[in-house]
Amino acid sequence: MSVLEPCVFTIFGSTGHLSRTKLLPSLYHLEAENRLPAGIAIVCVGRKPWDDETWRKEVTRWLEERIGNNLDASCLARFLGKVFYFLGDIEEVETFRLLKEYLEKNPSFPSNFVFYLSLPPTEYKMVAQRLALNDLNKENNGWRRLVIEKPFGYDLEDACTLDHSLRLNFSEQQLYRIDHYLGKETVQNVFVFRFANLLLEPMWNRNYIDHVQITHAEVAGIEDRAEFYDSAGALRDMIQSHLLQLLTLVAMEPPPNLDAESIRDEKVKVLKSIRPITKNAVHAHSFRAQYGRGRIGNDNIPGYLDEKSIPNQSTTETFAAIKLYIDNWRWRNVPFYLRTGKRLAESHSMISIRFRHPPQQLFRETQIQEIAPNWLLLGIQPEQCIRAELQVREPGIGMRTRTTQLDASTCSTTGGGYHLDAYEALLLDVIEGDHSQYLRSDEVNWAWRVVDPILKVWAVERDFIPTYPAGSWGPQEANRLFEKESQTWRNNLASE
Ligand SMILES: NC(=O)c1ccc[n+]([C@@H]2O[C@H](COP(=O)([O-])OP(=O)(O)OC[C@H]3O[C@@H](n4cnc5c(N)ncnc54)[C@H](OP(=O)(O)O)[C@@H]3O)[C@@H](O)[C@H]2O)c1
Repeated sequence: MSVLEPCVFTIFGSTGHLSRTKLLPSLYHLEAENRLPAGIAIVCVGRKPWDDETWRKEVTRWLEERIGNNLDASCLARFLGKVFYFLGDIEEVETFRLLKEYLEKNPSFPSNFVFYLSLPPTEYKMVAQRLALNDLNKENNGWRRLVIEKPFGYDLEDACTLDHSLRLNFSEQQLYRIDHYLGKETVQNVFVFRFANLLLEPMWNRNYIDHVQITHAEVAGIEDRAEFYDSAGALRDMIQSHLLQLLTLVAMEPPPNLDAESIRDEKVKVLKSIRPITKNAVHAHSFRAQYGRGRIGNDNIPGYLDEKSIPNQSTTETFAAIKLYIDNWRWRNVPFYLRTGKRLAESHSMISIRFRHPPQQLFRETQIQEIAPNWLLLGIQPEQCIRAELQVREPGIGMRTRTTQLDASTCSTTGGGYHLDAYEALLLDVIEGDHSQYLRSDEVNWAWRVVDPILKVWAVERDFIPTYPAGSWGPQEANRLFEKESQTWRNNLASE
């Protein structure tokens, strides 16, 4: 473990949901695990008229709510000693001058600064600009790092504008675009599985793989995010970011080493190789729908249009599925099906890789009607699991087969010791200056290019959207994306 340099970890939007539920609890856990650098100061910027003392009481209350009985009094006291409140409204230019003074004149504060923008995305440009106006982007004395949360723009054009404006004042090395969906462990699991097993490599291509499915399914609805969700929809919220990230991990070439730039170079190559979806091809490559009323367990679930704050004419999609092709030597003509939805039958994320049938129908003359294909399943959430499905012969007279599942030894084992959760690991990475789990500018841009043609067509086709009952696996019509009749959605890790 490297020694981390001390810094001031400044959170804008510290009174908001993300800060309360993720950032401050993660920083507390890191303190409990002795992982924070010595001398760190956590400066929380807010516009509520509070002081350090009131703020520490608020933080204590939130931590009690989140952590409950596991909150350790002495650790909490240590943690609170590192937490400060800076009163300021980001709308006021003066806030940033005073902040600079506050950060630079306090003799106990380290000279390295992280600025974490846990703010509405519409504020990113302004805050970055105002930090720079006060030279808080200059690295004359210590480093300066700016962290922004997804969404990185609303569409390709907006993302380019945002990027351009951030890059006017902060270098790519100073920028950290966080996407916490992929925990560091998930990424590392996929890496080890793919690149530490020679056995797989010869089969990891168009010669052996029939197609790949990447699914993120949620039982939950839109909860209290109605306004955000209705303007975003499933394609922007999940596919543009998270599912394309998973696709790059499955499809990328081995990087020359595990440096952030080497990994990100390979991910970008995949995104660049995705066959562009032309306007005329949008219908053949994409499908959207919205949940209607239904039942989940014993509960009657309201439809999307019945949800509070959703306009009754809304055609925002809560289910999206797309088909992509990666035009390179490894993957040409192998379909990648990406699917996400709310109010589906189960909650999980998984990657399902279906292999081709053996080239010869050797068992044609036996009782085996059709051999089931091999699948390789990578569970991402809630359980991290790697499972292979193979065909074995049923004991007894005659020739019959059944599917057996082989779990890689990492399945369901959490091992000993404490596991950093996704946010904890990511916060440490910023402090350490490790970009490997953060998105690079070109990565974000290429991901937008993949979905932008679909977004444009969907934006004008607003008269009608198919529906599916809450609690189902989405509409049957989503099957029209499949290339062949033999392809069907793989809904879970259980044997088919
Ligand atoms: N929440 C999540 O789980 C989550 C997940 C992924 C990404 N994100 C992203 O994280 C960011 C924050 O999300 P959130 O859910 O925490 O939003 P939120 O609950 O609405 O919090 C926004 C924060 O910004 C502050 N703010 C807004 N205008 C301000 C101003 N003029 N001066 C000072 N502070 C101001 C708010 O202060 P007040 O309390 O005073 O209003 C609040 O602390 C967003 O970009 C979101 O897309 C959030």
